[in-house]
Amino acid sequence: MAEQVCPHCNGTGWKIVEREGVSGAERCECTREMRSEKLLELAGIPARYEKATFTSFECPKDNDMAARELFAIRQNVLDFAHKFPVLDKPGLLLIGDNGTGKTHLAVAALRRIIEKGFAGVFFDYQNLIDRIRSGFDPTSGSSDREAYRIAIDAEVLLIDDLGSHRVLEWIEDVVTSIITQRYNHRRPLIATTNLPDPDAGYGIKKKQRQSVGDQRLDSPPEYRRTLADQIGMRARSRLFEMCNVVKMPLVQDYRLRKTTAQ
Ligand SMILES: Nc1ncnc2c1ncn2[C@@H]1O[C@H](COP(=O)(O)OP(=O)(O)O)[C@@H](O)[C@H]1O
Ligand SMILES: [Mg+2]
Ligand SMILES: [Zn+2]
Repeated sequence: MAEQVCPHCNGTGWKIVEREGVSGAERCECTREMRSEKLLELAGIPARYEKATFTSFECPKDNDMAARELFAIRQNVLDFAHKFPVLDKPGLLLIGDNGTGKTHLAVAALRRIIEKGFAGVFFDYQNLIDRIRSGFDPTSGSSDREAYRIAIDAEVLLIDDLGSHRVLEWIEDVVTSIITQRYNHRRPLIATTNLPDPDAGYGIKKKQRQSVGDQRLDSPPEYRRTLADQIGMRARSRLFEMCNVVKMPLVQDYRLRKTTAQ
């Protein structure tokens, strides 16, 4: 399909205006839109989250606590995006179990921020680490130090699934360095994680009660690795200092909710 060309500026971004008999060039209104469309393309949001917006984020109709909490969280994140960048803490950290909608909300916020004209970048943690690792590996011949620079310099950075796998010590240093440099320059970071953190109310996760016949067996608590275990204490504490921390309620995995609800 042919791209539509702005009739006011013929796609140049500049239009000629006549004022008191003198003609001059002025920025065309379409450039703002063009810029945010371009920025959205550059952000690298995965196709899977193409439709992840605040409007498409559904809250269950039930009036239970989890549903109300989910609604409040959506509002909270919307508020963050709305106020951005005028905020006490420039970042956002979404913590919670799989399928609770963390990435959806993080992308919705990033999208809204990009629409305001900021340049944002989406990185999946694993992918970021892989790219940084290959960039530092002299045998790979890759010039992908770029990923490291982008992660530090991007106006707004989204790291999805932070800490999702244990990294080698030197990579831990790299992650700490990215977070610290962003922290020092007050550059916003949006992150999601499903790792427990004691300060976010996730310490120990009890295994589900199992029933055997009439007997209910309580299995011993399962100790999960925490965010600090995975990314290191320093990175973790900076993250909490620079981010508004949002804990997802214990809602059922959205995908399951979808298939069971009629
Ligand atoms: N409340 C919701 N409304 C609409 N879609 C949702 C909601 N929560 C999750 N989803 C969708 O379900 C899928 C899994 O959600 P995701 O944000 O990836 O969860 P998480 O990052 O917490 O594991 C995604 O496709 C997402 O768009
Ligand atoms: Mg996710
Ligand atoms: Zn135009």
